[in-house]
Amino acid sequence: MYAMHKYWSKKPYNLVSRYIEKYSKPNEIVLDPFCGSGVTITESIRLNRRAVGIDINPTAIVSTKMGLTHIDLKALKKTFESLRSEVEQEINSLYQTNCPKCGNPQAIASHTIWNGEQIDEIWVECKACGNSKTVKKPSETDRVAALEPARPASWYPTNYLLENYRINAKAGMRVCDLFTPRALSNLSLLLEKIRQIKDEQIKSVMEFCFSAMLPQSSNMVFVIRRRGKSNGTNGNGEGKAEVGSWVIGYWIPPEHFEIHVWRCFENRFKRILKGKQEVNYAIPVSATEFLSFDELEKSQVGYLVSKGTATDLSLVHSNSIDYIFTDPPHGNRIPYLELSLMWNSWLNYEFDLENEIIVSESKVRQKNAKDYEQRLKIAFGEMWRVLKLDGYASIAFNSLDDETWLSLLNTLLAAGFKIKEITPLEYSARSVVQDTRKNALKTDFVITCRKQMQEFRQQIAFGYSEKELLIAIKDFLSSRKNGAETYEIMNCLLVSSIPTGTVFRVSQIIETIKDIATYNDGRWQLKPS
Ligand SMILES: C[S@@+](CC[C@H](N)C(=O)[O-])C[C@H]1O[C@@H](n2cnc3c(N)ncnc32)[C@H](O)[C@@H]1O
Repeated sequence: MYAMHKYWSKKPYNLVSRYIEKYSKPNEIVLDPFCGSGVTITESIRLNRRAVGIDINPTAIVSTKMGLTHIDLKALKKTFESLRSEVEQEINSLYQTNCPKCGNPQAIASHTIWNGEQIDEIWVECKACGNSKTVKKPSETDRVAALEPARPASWYPTNYLLENYRINAKAGMRVCDLFTPRALSNLSLLLEKIRQIKDEQIKSVMEFCFSAMLPQSSNMVFVIRRRGKSNGTNGNGEGKAEVGSWVIGYWIPPEHFEIHVWRCFENRFKRILKGKQEVNYAIPVSATEFLSFDELEKSQVGYLVSKGTATDLSLVHSNSIDYIFTDPPHGNRIPYLELSLMWNSWLNYEFDLENEIIVSESKVRQKNAKDYEQRLKIAFGEMWRVLKLDGYASIAFNSLDDETWLSLLNTLLAAGFKIKEITPLEYSARSVVQDTRKNALKTDFVITCRKQMQEFRQQIAFGYSEKELLIAIKDFLSSRKNGAETYEIMNCLLVSSIPTGTVFRVSQIIETIKDIATYNDGRWQLKPS
């Protein structure tokens, strides 16, 4: 059920659930103020907790709700079939082409391979002769059919992407430029028909399916060409084409696919049907959606999922949350709202760029590291406010260099949290490897802290000499008969040093371990002196 819609940095559900089980009890309230696709919320409900999910991205909120709500599968399938009977033929009419095998003029171009403005290859599906894939070279009529469709689109999003070279969003590029005119026409027809569905719940699943299939129906699907005996070659001596997928960002590869819109929708629908089946099975029927926190507090089971900003959690009462598990945006890694613009624009969702916590290279936004840190600080302050005294908050972070570690820990301490433990999300020593480019750790880390009264707030700085670090590691390793994993050493050294106000540098810890210990079977043992 977590594969219904693409989202970035989805956390493995089985690992998230371990934290929820460890730090909260049944019926307690778990909050994720950066809930993304909703893994924390769904896992909390599965484990009989109540849950509050907040995210600034409307697509994230829709995905989260899709992982929670039951649906009548029979009615869903029935609506899909009536949608098919309403639109499939009309959609097909724009992909009509001659079958190279039997000459049938009403065969269908299921896949069209473009090379810049030209079509290189068409995969033909023919009901008359029964061939499901015959590769042919296009005629001029085929090109015109795609570029000047007989039925123009009634509506499509014409708004501009936010220029950002990191995600290939070029100046002047609009959402509609990601699709061929034929795809735009068929997508607008499909969306129009979905909007006419009377049952609101079923309509929302179909809209979700529409959103989820958009990347595969765009010009961003690259062509994989593998050469080899079993693959054969096309007429130009190139390997046979295989369908790739959407890579991150708005890159239109010179050689790309245009896939039949209904085929994309149908394939995605199968996946969503499977996902919704799993949701029906995993989520208790009693898990109600509440629209206010008061109602959620009075209930025994249920959730509140709302679009909003983590910097203003005013819909949640102070001292009311039992546990927080969250995974905030990590610096400039993924500009969520910019990347979701395609989905949010097609579905007409409103989004709040101003309050997004992100570092963005986009020149049209003022989203620098300072803005990111300030907003994250406010969000941590809000998390502290809503958490019960002595309650735990686990915050997932990735690939931090020394300075970012220090700033993150100081932000948490300044908000009034006490650091309890630092664990790698994977629970595996082998995955704790050093990212040598940044002198940082590649692994996702979870910092678990506890709410304490704010008068105990403290700040930390780097300190300690190499000699002191050496002694600390030696002491720790000699106290462990079977050695220790990298994260255990880090956790011990960092967490125990925080109360002194001075901490070790992560990069230095790793370098020193390598000098004085040997690594075997995932564990460090002191070298004999
Ligand atoms: C690392 S992702 C979370 C992914 C999530 N753990 C999952 O498994 O899908 C961070 C999320 O923070 C959201 N976000 C960014 N700024 C926000 C803000 N001010 N308030 C709430 N959410 C925000 C982004 O939209 C994104 O979904």
